[in-house]
Amino acid sequence: MEVVIVPDAKAGGELVAQALAELVRRKPDAVLGVATGSTPLPVYEALTAKVRAGAVDVSRVRIAQLDEYVGLPAEHPESYRSVLRREVLAPLGIDEAAFMGPDGAASDIVAACQAYDAALAGAGGVDLQILGIGTDGHIGFNEPCSSLASRTRIKTLTEQTRVDNARFFDGDITQVPHHVITQGIGTILDARHLVLLASGEGKADAVAASVEGPVASVCPASALQLHPHATVVVDEGAASKLKLGDYFRYTFANKPAWQGI
Ligand code: PGA
Repeated sequence: MEVVIVPDAKAGGELVAQALAELVRRKPDAVLGVATGSTPLPVYEALTAKVRAGAVDVSRVRIAQLDEYVGLPAEHPESYRSVLRREVLAPLGIDEAAFMGPDGAASDIVAACQAYDAALAGAGGVDLQILGIGTDGHIGFNEPCSSLASRTRIKTLTEQTRVDNARFFDGDITQVPHHVITQGIGTILDARHLVLLASGEGKADAVAASVEGPVASVCPASALQLHPHATVVVDEGAASKLKLGDYFRYTFANKPAWQGI
């Protein structure tokens, strides 16, 4: 995989937005896999700026959701569908009809998970999937020891993830659901390009384990090592525990200019 160390989160957002814009110019109806959380926001902001400047037309793209809370009504402000409406669809001017996501309010969650995997396959698969990483190495909501072959399914959140996410629920952990639907690690690996972003020293251990540690379900993001086109975009803080930091800087600085990420 390629590791790109950027000066700050804004630069990472610009780099990834550039890759998204190039993808959409090449394939106007591309399926973009989007993640929630704080880390991808600079990507969405940079892409929105490109759309508003007329540099790329996203009117035909489709948007695919990575994960969702179970039990929150879709219109709850912190359901990931609502978050993505606010942070991705509205700024980019993308119609709700172009949005695919699992139904966290379904009465039959197992069927909802299978339906979502089928919908992704029916759409031709995800072209570029944006990922954050948890402090425990999770991707999507695949917590440690998730099967590396898993498909979309229900998961139970760890206490740490609920603590991390309480900030979106007025700091009140009791409001954070215990259960989620998440694309499985196998589902995520089906995307044609994976781009994982991380910012800040709090993510440094998880990033080092994912990039330089063994492929192991105890660190779900290490599954990116199995993917033929995975890019890890980290700021200096998140890169601070990488032993091969200088090597990654050197190779990125010297790669062919036409190659992109
Ligand atoms: P964050 O979340 O971007 O808000 O840190 C990442 C994640 O938990 O996957």
